Amino acid sequence: MTMKIFIPRESTAVSLGAHDVAQAFTHYASHHDIDLKIIRNGSRGLFWLEPMIEIETAQGRMAYGPVASSDVESIMADITDNICHEKPPCHTLALGLTEEIGYLKKQTRLTFARAGIIDPVSLDDYLALDGFKGLQKSLALSTQEIVTAVVESGLRGRGGAAFPTGIKWQTVRDAVAEQKYIVCNADEGDSGTFADKLVMECDPFMLIEGIIIAGLAVGANQGYIYLRSEYPIADEILQQAIKIANEAGYLGDNICGSGKSFNLEVRLGAEAYICGEETALLESLEGKRGMVRFKPPLPALEGLFGKPTIVNNVLSLAAIPFIMSQGSQAYQQYGTNRSRGTLPFQLAGNVKQGGLIELPFGSSLQDLIDDFSGGTASDRPIKAIQVGGPLGAYLPLNKLDIPLDYEAFSQASAVLGHGGIVVFDDSVDMLEQARFSMEFCVVESCGKCTPCRIGSTRGVEVIDRIKNNERRAENMTLLNDLCDTMIDGSLCAMGSMTPIPVRSAYNDFPQDFYLPTQESNHD
Ligand SMILES: Cc1cc2nc3c(=O)[nH]c(=O)nc-3n(C[C@H](O)[C@H](O)[C@H](O)COP(=O)(O)O)c2cc1C
Ligand code: SF4
Repeated sequence: MTMKIFIPRESTAVSLGAHDVAQAFTHYASHHDIDLKIIRNGSRGLFWLEPMIEIETAQGRMAYGPVASSDVESIMADITDNICHEKPPCHTLALGLTEEIGYLKKQTRLTFARAGIIDPVSLDDYLALDGFKGLQKSLALSTQEIVTAVVESGLRGRGGAAFPTGIKWQTVRDAVAEQKYIVCNADEGDSGTFADKLVMECDPFMLIEGIIIAGLAVGANQGYIYLRSEYPIADEILQQAIKIANEAGYLGDNICGSGKSFNLEVRLGAEAYICGEETALLESLEGKRGMVRFKPPLPALEGLFGKPTIVNNVLSLAAIPFIMSQGSQAYQQYGTNRSRGTLPFQLAGNVKQGGLIELPFGSSLQDLIDDFSGGTASDRPIKAIQVGGPLGAYLPLNKLDIPLDYEAFSQASAVLGHGGIVVFDDSVDMLEQARFSMEFCVVESCGKCTPCRIGSTRGVEVIDRIKNNERRAENMTLLNDLCDTMIDGSLCAMGSMTPIPVRSAYNDFPQDFYLPTQESNHD
């Protein structure tokens, strides 16, 4: 009987040696005359266990990890001695049944339901697990019915601003134009984030399906995925999947015999954080320098090449097939308040168990850390957690009970953003982190407006003076005023949100600014 082993081709696993491991298994099998089929799946998102390999058994898939090429011989012995005789594995890297691993079992995977299970470029695998069901249903609906389903799902944009997706789609649908576009924002620049990449590398047909449905909903026949060039494996997998979808009639002219057409292409960005901002992205997509545009007009009305355009994040579009195939209620039932559905959180930084954690909105950050992180990698106590990327607040320990939902975070002067969670231990210096936030803005600012371009440069200088104990009280006041100016005067969120991490650093960690605690509230 053919033995089936799954070895990820996803970039984290590959960077940790998955290709070498696959080669070692092939080599071992050919030398020992074993009938072995290696399937290059996506990742389950349990990064500390990568490369995590899985063997198919009658009970389900059994996992081993993290596996090196040198482990292959002993793992094969464990498989043939134990697993093949229906005995429990006893190898030190054996993790048991994959589905029983606590990190996975505690999650609610809607968007990531197929990740790591399927071969990302196997259309048969995708179809076997509800693939293109949402598209088939959408093809039978009117454009308004699709938009209404998205509105009713409560889905909000996962790129950062949490704008209701259905409302954006309604605006583009209602716009009168001969040409409309769908743009998928796959620039994923936030620190500690990787969920978009995992979608593209593990389940690309889901994203393609979501984009086609968006096209049907608003009357667009051309889509672009704006992908950061730092994701070469995602690019390769997307190109393969788009080709397969074209050949199978899901893309191109007359999709699924419906008479409707939709074309999709990937465009690579050039490593600029600001090109994730939707209007700078559109400029870049048009072949110009990535500079932020004034709004209005909204991209929904005058977007790519001046035409009505949906710009949505990968995760927003990836949620659409589930919503359309299972119904808005099935999605809407998860979550809390106005934050509906699930968010794929990305746990990174100083933790033992970094990875992808998809949960309904509403549990607390503390619970997430307790349930999944495994503690800090350094074994030192946690001091701060930055949520929502480089423009998100640094949260101290006494704020970790905030529920993970958009409104609760906003009330705490923080942002959930794209769901990135970066943990710092007690060796971090929050003054240095505040300086880093300002410096990040210096480097990444598009330069169009003064509060951001010049303000961030002055911000670095002021923080340096505080650090050097030069007229500390005066400079703290100046830093606070500068934050006000950046918030009030910046054209886009790059400049207006940079004060969020800076202020959280000096308000919640005053000791690092050499401030007595009672003097710390500079709002
Ligand atoms: C500086 C800056 C960087 C951004 N980077 C990204 C990004 O990498 N990916 C993304 O989807 N949205 C990013 N956004 C948000 C986009 O401007 C936009 O709100 C989003 O693509 C809309 O999609 P959504 O409604 O599905 O979230 C960024 C915004 C700013 C201000
Ligand atoms: S806030 Fe910064 S990034 Fe945004 S438009 Fe102004 S200069 Fe450009």
